[in-house]
Amino acid sequence: MSVGDKRRISIFGLGYVGAVTAGCLAKQGHAIVGVDVHPGKVESFNAGVPPIVEPGLEELLKTAKAKGLLRATLSCEEAIADTEASIVCVGTPSKVTGALDLGFVRGVVEQIGNSLRKKMKSHALILRSTMLPGSTEAIAQEYLSDLMAVRLLQVFYYPEFLRESTAVSDFENPSLAVVGTRDGAKPPADLVSGLFGERAAVVNWSTAEMVKYACNAFHATKISFANEIGRVGKQMGIDSRAVMELLCQDTKLNLSPYYMKPGNPFGGSCLPKDVRALTNHARMNGVSIPMLESLLPSNDRHLQSLLGLITESGETEVVILGMTFKSNTDDLRESAMVEVAQTLLGRGFKLRIYDPALNLSALVGANKRVIDTKMPHLASQLCPDLKTALGTRGLVVAAQRCAPVGELKQFITANHRLVDVNGWPELRELPSKYEGFCW
Ligand SMILES: NC(=O)c1ccc[n+]([C@@H]2O[C@H](COP(=O)([O-])OP(=O)(O)OC[C@H]3O[C@@H](n4cnc5c(N)ncnc54)[C@H](O)[C@@H]3O)[C@@H](O)[C@H]2O)c1
Repeated sequence: MSVGDKRRISIFGLGYVGAVTAGCLAKQGHAIVGVDVHPGKVESFNAGVPPIVEPGLEELLKTAKAKGLLRATLSCEEAIADTEASIVCVGTPSKVTGALDLGFVRGVVEQIGNSLRKKMKSHALILRSTMLPGSTEAIAQEYLSDLMAVRLLQVFYYPEFLRESTAVSDFENPSLAVVGTRDGAKPPADLVSGLFGERAAVVNWSTAEMVKYACNAFHATKISFANEIGRVGKQMGIDSRAVMELLCQDTKLNLSPYYMKPGNPFGGSCLPKDVRALTNHARMNGVSIPMLESLLPSNDRHLQSLLGLITESGETEVVILGMTFKSNTDDLRESAMVEVAQTLLGRGFKLRIYDPALNLSALVGANKRVIDTKMPHLASQLCPDLKTALGTRGLVVAAQRCAPVGELKQFITANHRLVDVNGWPELRELPSKYEGFCW
């Protein structure tokens, strides 16, 4: 926060996130009032002693205390009366069923709402507790809608990405900054420059909530992946730490945005075959690698979900744009669209296919065998040009970017419906009804 933007901020929940937030914001010069329901934590805070173990925090709290920038209370009303912004960092644990327990957030937001109705001065509420998409909307609607309607309160969802044990430096240099506002509109400039930071991406509440879950699911996936490679590697007598170190040196395909876009199922001549070989080896040798084992079933679920979208669309004519497993290749091996086409034909759909990379007469070897065994009549569905393929109506399944948008514009009409499987933004501009496959 810039020097001119010093604020009085209340922080609800003095656990791992709240205590660090308090210490770091006080270091920036803000006056902090901590709130917790736990009297021991409030007492400890008032003495400038961290209620948790976190490197660097003790010094921050002691300094803040000495400067008169830090105090704590059990009273929500007192904290709200004394501050202009509140940050909520209370816990969001699992219920025994695994469901998310929002009880603490609901409790604290209700109290904040009641205190603000007594104060009647404008206030910013920043929710940082990890919550499933839709939670901020539901909680704001239930407890705060009147205050928001008269513009006394602005609500933000601002996920926290710090890690315990390096929390202070993570807070000061966050790995990611995302702010959710009700409709995705930019927050006021003073909050951006002061609290969220100029680099923060601004999205709507639900997207910000989902980013946090996607990040944590990705972190868990990475750890499980490395551990499974470790277990199967050890069985093979290989130093998997060396393997993973080399894997991480590839920043083109491995540690990069590549392969990180929701869209087509994976296919082609390598990924399914190689995952199959590795998991088969592990199984035959008594190594359990459930995450890697789940890749092919997960990929198949994805394909089934695309088929569901097509077959439940109500359309009987389907146009597939792009038959190969990715664009600019004629490789049909384990291409998801071959499965889709085969299933649709089996269920009696009228099918037209367009793929300029495919020249059936030039196919040879394993690639030709795919056609001979799976789709012997492919030639009769394959259209020579886009105009013939699109016809006058039908559900267009855009699996690959295999035609210029300008050309699509000429032939796609309002009678077509379009399912975008590949993430092709320009398709939204076409007159047909647009639906993203998994977005
Ligand atoms: N711990 C982490 O590393 C981390 C990182 C990022 C996000 N998060 C998320 O941040 C949130 C907080 O996590 P944490 O680890 O700091 O939790 P925590 O359990 O350590 O602390 C939560 C605190 O909230 C207090 N509290 C409960 N109800 C209250 C109320 N009505 N008023 C005031 N205080 C109240 C509790 O007494 C407790 O001290 C969670 O949603 C968590 O998922 C945690």
